[in-house]
Amino acid sequence: MQLTSLLVAITGATLATAAEIESRIPRLGAFAVSQTFGCPLATRDFFEFALGAQSDACRTFYNNTTYQAIDVYYWKPECLLTLFNTYDCTDPGIVSGIGCWSPPGGIYAYKITCPYL
Ligand SMILES: *[C@@H]1O[C@H](CO)[C@@H](O)[C@H](O)[C@H]1NC(C)=O
Ligand SMILES: *[C@@H]1O[C@H](CO)[C@@H](O)[C@H](O)[C@H]1NC(C)=O
Repeated sequence: MQLTSLLVAITGATLATAAEIESRIPRLGAFAVSQTFGCPLATRDFFEFALGAQSDACRTFYNNTTYQAIDVYYWKPECLLTLFNTYDCTDPGIVSGIGCWSPPGGIYAYKITCPYL
C-alpha cells in the first residue's frame, strides 16, 4: 500500500510517531458498504477518500452495484456524504452521518462535497 510505504519512509527518516504521521495525511473520510440490509455490515466493500476528492460528481459503484447498508468510519465535519436512490443523483438524496445504517431505498450513487471548507 502507498500509505504503508509512506509511513516506513517517514518513520525511517525522522523517527516520527505513527500518530503524528497520520494527522499529516489529509484524510476526508472513509466508509464501507454492504449489499445486505442491516447492521453490523454483513460484508464490507471499503472506500477511502483523501482531501481534494470532493466534487459535484455523481459517483456510482463498480458495475452499478447497489448497496443496502453503509458504515461511515470517519468523515471530515466540513464535508458531506450524500446518498442517492438513483444512479444519476436526481433524487434529493440523504446526507449520511457517522456509523452504520440502512438508507431507505438503498444506495445507488453518492456525492462527496465540502460546502464548509
Ligand atoms: C450504470 O447506470 C447508468 C445510469 O442508468 C448507465 O448510464 C450506465 O451505462 C450503467 N453502467 C453500467 C456499467 O451498468
Ligand atoms: C455487472 O452487472 C451485471 C448485471 O447485474 C452482471 O450480470 C454482471 O455479472 C456484472 N459484472 C461484473 C464484472 O461484476
